[in-house]
Amino acid sequence: MASQHVVVRARGVTKELPLGSTTVHALRGIDLDIYTGELVVIVGPSGSGKSTLLGLIGGLDTATSGTIEIDGVDITRLNEDQLTEIRNEKIGFIFQFFNLIPTLTALENVALPVQFARKPQFHPEKRAKELLTALGLKDRLRHRPAELSGGQQQRVAIARALANNPPLLLADEPTGNLDSESGAMVMDALERIRNQAGTTIVIVTHDAQIARHADRTIRLVDGLIANGRA
Ligand SMILES: Nc1ncnc2c1ncn2[C@@H]1O[C@H](COP(=O)(O)OP(=O)(O)OP(=O)(O)O)[C@@H](O)[C@H]1O
Ligand SMILES: [Mg+2]
Repeated sequence: MASQHVVVRARGVTKELPLGSTTVHALRGIDLDIYTGELVVIVGPSGSGKSTLLGLIGGLDTATSGTIEIDGVDITRLNEDQLTEIRNEKIGFIFQFFNLIPTLTALENVALPVQFARKPQFHPEKRAKELLTALGLKDRLRHRPAELSGGQQQRVAIARALANNPPLLLADEPTGNLDSESGAMVMDALERIRNQAGTTIVIVTHDAQIARHADRTIRLVDGLIANGRA
């Protein structure tokens, strides 16, 4: 399943954040390779830099120093337009609080990123229906987020993140807001996607149940990888 092609390569990545008159060293030198089709889980105490690292890998934020390559392209050297293009083409995001658009139906929420793609590979509604059906939401296409359970909303968010078939899926505490049964369903869905589409998945979590699904667990402590190459 996991091949030797490197999707994410981070070298010497640091992130410093100003806080009043001091500086927070959120990341203090991260070296990391993530391979195609891997399901990697990032764990570690609160404040250890997990979300910061995920945001840098996803090009949502910029590193203070170091390099981050996505499919061989160093994203730390890109301008905002180029970054946006990489994000749209290569990366799907899933957040703890779903971030769905409340006025749109499940189908519309998932179809939207396909409509916005510069070179759409899919028919927006057809693609949305196919993904939602695969995630067990065939009977919920016309529901708005408020008419769905937390686990169902998160599965809509997963479908949306996958809408343009990104090779890399990043998830920050995707089950943090769910009961254990819904969380298990979300994890099953993610694992199935990895197995079927070969999507590389990186998940930040506090949940030991989720870490069990991982090919590899990376532990961050105080802005550094604590377990070397697990
Ligand atoms: N905007 C900011 N300004 C200053 N410091 C920040 C900012 N954002 C995060 N930090 C600090 O950076 C460090 C890493 O934060 P980060 O959010 O990456 O931690 P985390 O591992 O995701 O924690 P959690 O498990 O609680 O989500 C923390 O010490 C945090 O206080
Ligand atoms: Mg976090």
